[in-house]
Amino acid sequence: MAKINENYLKLPGSYLFSTIAKKVAAYSEQNPDKEIIKMGIGDVTKPLAPSVTEAMHKAVDEMGTAEGFHGYGPEQGYDFLREKIVEKDYKVRGIDIKPDEIFVSDGAKSDCGNIGDIFAKDNKVAVCDPVYPVYVDTNAMAGRAGDFENGHWTNLYYMPCTEENGFMPELPKEKVDIIYLCFPNNPTGVSATREQLKDWIKYAKDNGAVILYDSAYEAFITDPDVPHSIYELDGAKEVAIEFRSFSKTAGFTGARCAYTVVPHELKLDGTELNGLWNRRQCTKFNGVPYIIQRGAEAVYSDTGYAETREAIRYYLDNAKIIRDALTGSGLTVYGGENAPYIWAKTPDGMKSWDFFDKLLEEAGVVTTPGAGFGPSGEGYIRLTAFSTKENTIKAMEKIKKIL
Ligand code: MLT
Repeated sequence: MAKINENYLKLPGSYLFSTIAKKVAAYSEQNPDKEIIKMGIGDVTKPLAPSVTEAMHKAVDEMGTAEGFHGYGPEQGYDFLREKIVEKDYKVRGIDIKPDEIFVSDGAKSDCGNIGDIFAKDNKVAVCDPVYPVYVDTNAMAGRAGDFENGHWTNLYYMPCTEENGFMPELPKEKVDIIYLCFPNNPTGVSATREQLKDWIKYAKDNGAVILYDSAYEAFITDPDVPHSIYELDGAKEVAIEFRSFSKTAGFTGARCAYTVVPHELKLDGTELNGLWNRRQCTKFNGVPYIIQRGAEAVYSDTGYAETREAIRYYLDNAKIIRDALTGSGLTVYGGENAPYIWAKTPDGMKSWDFFDKLLEEAGVVTTPGAGFGPSGEGYIRLTAFSTKENTIKAMEKIKKIL
């Protein structure tokens, strides 16, 4: 008889954002006249930039001609995009990354989840707490997380990120093999400085560990001391894989395009991880559509860059509106300065899910309960700056009223 992967049965509940979507749908059904403003999942609201859609239209037309038609593309991404990424995301920052170290994909979420394929099951994995649930759930699915007991996975090493430590994970006190870091952070919105990242690179070198660095939100960095890439730090190429995405940078949440950098210098027992990831992608992935990659390429043109930067500024302005409104209502807030996420402490020690319910039922605003990101997220909620400005202002007025 065929057997299922029993690790799936250990997963508690459904995926965080599906749970929230179900809750909101049920509420809407019962209260069809209530207006709901969504500040839960980090999904963008601004349309794709004109340069991007223009490039996509052109690519569609090409696909309809014998000369311009593209069938299966390279699994790793087209050279035109990999070369632009190398030049515009890395070379300009003095980082030497080769095109064959870039793997274009359909999302940082998929890559962060799939990367586990190239690592042995008995690696000890460290995650921040709170954390983007994909890192945890995918390791649980692979059998690497152990059992879920009292809100914790028995085999994961949790690095609490609390108000006391400024939401910065501390170096593990025991030896771990794989470390997930995300800066600017989802969900807390805090960012790491060069000095802070240096310690992680040293830890990884000293312990033969690999850092899985999620920098999906780098476009929101405003502080010059905050590195955009882990490779801005010496030695990082020997210990880190970096994940980037066009989702939040250029509004591709629906178009799907991202990339992962696996430097040749990164080796375990003499084996290059680049080769393993390449093997994995060639076997399980057929590449991102040509049309989408042409759209992503346009993000790097002068006008494409200016247009996408304008959208980022718009979201950062929303973040400020949220920060100011919540602070003005007496809440303690973090993040939102180098990130599109605002991490707010619930009033009077309220539980995250209770505050989530209150905001939904009394203000019609959807947030994400901090506890959904891990035990240390209890007592917080996360808001995103990705709404329209009008809805952001409206949501803040409603929240102010009920607080
Ligand atoms: C989030 O809200 O945490 C993100 O939008 C989820 C994602 O990017 O997959």
